[in-house]
Amino acid sequence: MMKIFLADTTATRKLGITLGQSLNAGNVILLEGDLGAGKTTLVQGLGEGLGITDSIVSPTFTLINEYTEGRLPLYHLDLYRLEPNEVAALNLETYWEGVEVTPGIVAIEWAERLPYKPDSYLSVRLTYGDESARQVEMTPHNCTISEEVATMRM
Ligand SMILES: Nc1ncnc2c1ncn2[C@@H]1O[C@H](COP(=O)(O)OP(=O)(O)O)[C@@H](O)[C@H]1O
Ligand SMILES: [Mg+2]
Repeated sequence: MMKIFLADTTATRKLGITLGQSLNAGNVILLEGDLGAGKTTLVQGLGEGLGITDSIVSPTFTLINEYTEGRLPLYHLDLYRLEPNEVAALNLETYWEGVEVTPGIVAIEWAERLPYKPDSYLSVRLTYGDESARQVEMTPHNCTISEEVATMRM
């Protein structure tokens, strides 16, 4: 597990950028944390790191937003409004197995709501500090944290 202190929004975005520059097709990021913890901010950085210039907005109502103009496709999901049985019906493995879609990066907000998880994923847990500070705990499950991310300075 890797813990990073994120002093402000820019730090969270920067972490996302570094992830976006170093992740590989098929990587899944499971984001957990309260409303306003910075999940979407991190995914916005991730999109920037992938070279996506479209503005990334939270798919709270659309469930999934797909961005295809970057180095790899980005599939951004938000499970906030769903019950676990509704999540199961989405067949999310389509995205992380890249079966019927081009393999890309899958970033899932409110991953707490997942009734099952992929075989490998990066767990990203955001928590509040004082005011604009956040803390992030990143735990790789059957995958590795890239050198670029592991040696980041905030
Ligand atoms: N260190 C920080 N990291 C991320 N967001 C921060 C930070 N400090 C303040 N914020 C603010 O908190 C809010 C986080 O919102 P958002 O990223 O949409 O969270 P979530 O998707 O987890 O609900 C934004 O308004 C952002 O500007
Ligand atoms: Mg969000």
